Amino acid sequence: MRILHVDLGKNSYDIVFERGALDDVGKYIIRDGKKLCVITDDNVGKIYGEKVVSSLEKAGYTVSVITLPHGEKTKSFDVLPAIYSRLIKEKITRKDALVALGGGVIGDLCGFVAATYLRGIGFIQLPTSLLAQVDSSIGGKVAVDLPDGKNLVGAFWQPEKVVIDVNALSTLSEAFFTDGMAEVIKYGCIKDKELFDKLAECGGKSGLLPVIDDVIYRCCDIKREVVERDEKDKGERMLLNFGHTYGHALEKYYDFEKLSHGMAVSVGMYAICQIAEKKGLTKAGVADKIAKVAAMYGLPTTDPAPVAEVVKGVVNDKKNLGDKLMTVLLKDIGESYLYPTTAEFFG
Ligand code: GLY
Repeated sequence: MRILHVDLGKNSYDIVFERGALDDVGKYIIRDGKKLCVITDDNVGKIYGEKVVSSLEKAGYTVSVITLPHGEKTKSFDVLPAIYSRLIKEKITRKDALVALGGGVIGDLCGFVAATYLRGIGFIQLPTSLLAQVDSSIGGKVAVDLPDGKNLVGAFWQPEKVVIDVNALSTLSEAFFTDGMAEVIKYGCIKDKELFDKLAECGGKSGLLPVIDDVIYRCCDIKREVVERDEKDKGERMLLNFGHTYGHALEKYYDFEKLSHGMAVSVGMYAICQIAEKKGLTKAGVADKIAKVAAMYGLPTTDPAPVAEVVKGVVNDKKNLGDKLMTVLLKDIGESYLYPTTAEFFG
């Protein structure tokens, strides 16, 4: 077992890494309140629901379960009232806690419910996807979507604990594994050349699997450091959005249908480096290095969407944010910086 402590004053917590942890997760959850409500989706619940519930019951908790349909639509604002009503019916009080069992959608939604129900109760993250294990379960960004866009209503609400069972990745589809790899490559790009080189040396998923525990741990450690220095996303934390500005615009261009988040971010990382290389803001050759590693893990770095059309999404984003667009650039692999610009930068 390995533990990373996220030091955020009174909001501090541990990230526990242990293969097989989901088989007996009750032993990691030690708290006063005696009721827990597990929020999961139909896919993950089918595989892990029963053993998580029985382990929590064995540890002395009274457990209820809310199972939601899998997929991004579940993260909708409209889904919330039914969940709050269910928590009231289960008599979940401020002392009790929610347990997010699933990927990024479940973690974000469950965290948002925890942040708002009874003005805030505790929650525990049990991330089962690669993306959730390396990124969304850590750092306390929780949110739901509006018809106008993703993550538009949310909060910073840190979990009480994150328990990462890497064995859960064995039941993850190839597409979801690939999706998470974009964030893994991103960490190498923004903070850790050694990690990036390791991903290149592994050459793809089969080469990576023997060292995946160390890679996930390293990604979490990078995120821990960044979040500790900038919990509320006012400066350094924005570096975690490398490739995301163009990536989000591209996802939106296709109405979230054609490209997964990871695929879009991969295209975004390559696009921003190509542009910045031409302007002398990124060392020549960086975009190509990213394209090579992305391809090893099945991620695209180009897309036929017309840049001018996609960039309209960036412009809209910029309007939402005011007139400054903070773009993340690389000096070189492993060295990132914030570059204030305008949407015109993209094309
Ligand atoms: N996923 C980016 C962040 O947590 O800041």
